[in-house]
This record gives sequence, structure tokens and C-alpha cells, in this order.
Amino acid sequence: MKIISYCMFILLLTACGFSSNGERIFFTATSKNGTIAIKEGPPMMKQAVKGCAHCHGREGKGGHALDATGIKGSDIRYKTLALKYGGYLSFLEGKGENIPGGVDTLIKRAIIDGEGPGYKLNIAMPRWAMTEEDLNDVIEYLKTLK
Ligand code: HEC
Repeated sequence: MKIISYCMFILLLTACGFSSNGERIFFTATSKNGTIAIKEGPPMMKQAVKGCAHCHGREGKGGHALDATGIKGSDIRYKTLALKYGGYLSFLEGKGENIPGGVDTLIKRAIIDGEGPGYKLNIAMPRWAMTEEDLNDVIEYLKTLK
């Protein structure tokens, strides 16, 4: 039942269109250039690609565990990521490392390579084959989440 209402929600959104490319990626893992591939990730995801919202919640505040790992999609609202990855950025800069693009660059590495703030993210988080443009768009969308 829950799945059916989720599909209807997606259908409704698709029918109504998304207000931005970033929003579309967030809910469907499809950008204006087509489906976004997963380079590496939970086996189930290779069959059924869902948007970020599927694991991180519709408001990006964090979701529920989807597979046996029991690991929940974390809070990925930009304000939360900015704090977490901002702290890591300061740490890297303190070691003399310069990261062009700052926090956003670190967030992109998390999305495409599963590079967390100092550790590898669990494989429950897919590694997405996303273009620079799509990455910028989805990060813009994360900024709109309250
Ligand atoms: C199949 C479930 C799933 C999907 C779909 C998914 N994620 Fe995740 N994501 C996770 C999990 C689980 C984690 C936490 C991994 C960890 O802490 O080791 C995570 C972590 C992250 C992080 C790092 C957050 C942090 O606290 O360090 C970012 C950023 C992120 N995801 C962005 C995205 C974006 C953007 C999308 C959509 C393109 C997406 N995720 C789709 C499961 C998912």
C-alpha cells in the first residue's frame, strides 16, 4: 500500500513536472539528460533506480533503512551537509590541503564516489554517475530543503 501511494506520488509529480532539474533528480534519479546510472551500489538498486528521496526522505531529513544493512539514508539537507562537510573542510585546510569549490566539492565526492568526511560511506549509498551540471542542480535543490 505504501509503495502504491509512493508510485502515485511520483506519477503525479511527473505529470505535473518538476520545477527544476535538481528536484527531478532528487525524486526520480532521472535528469533532463535521462536516467542517472549507478556505478556501484546496493544490488537491489541496479534493477530499480529510485531518487534520493527514496532513501533520504521526501524532505531530505533522513529516511528509513531499505535493506539488510539496516543503514538509514542520512539527513542531506544542505544546511546539515554544510556543517558536517564544513568541519571536514576546515580539518583538510588545517593540514594544508586546498579544496577548490569547498564544501560543494566534498558533497559531490560523497555523491559520486562515496567519499564521506574522512571515511568511505556505506555501500547502501549508491555511487552515482552524475554529470557536473546534474551535481550542481541537485545540490541547488538540497539548498531549498528547510
Ligand atoms: C538506496 C538508498 C539511497 C539512495 C537512493 C541515495 N542515497 Fe545517499 N545515502 C544513503 C545512505 C544509507 C547514506 C549513509 C551512508 C553512510 O553514512 O555511510 C547516504 C549518504 C549520502 C550522503 C552523505 C551524507 C553524510 O551525512 O555524510 C550524501 C551527500 C548523499 N547520500 C546524497 C544522495 C543523493 C544526492 C542521492 C540521489 C542522487 C542519494 N544520496 C541517493 C542511501 C541512499
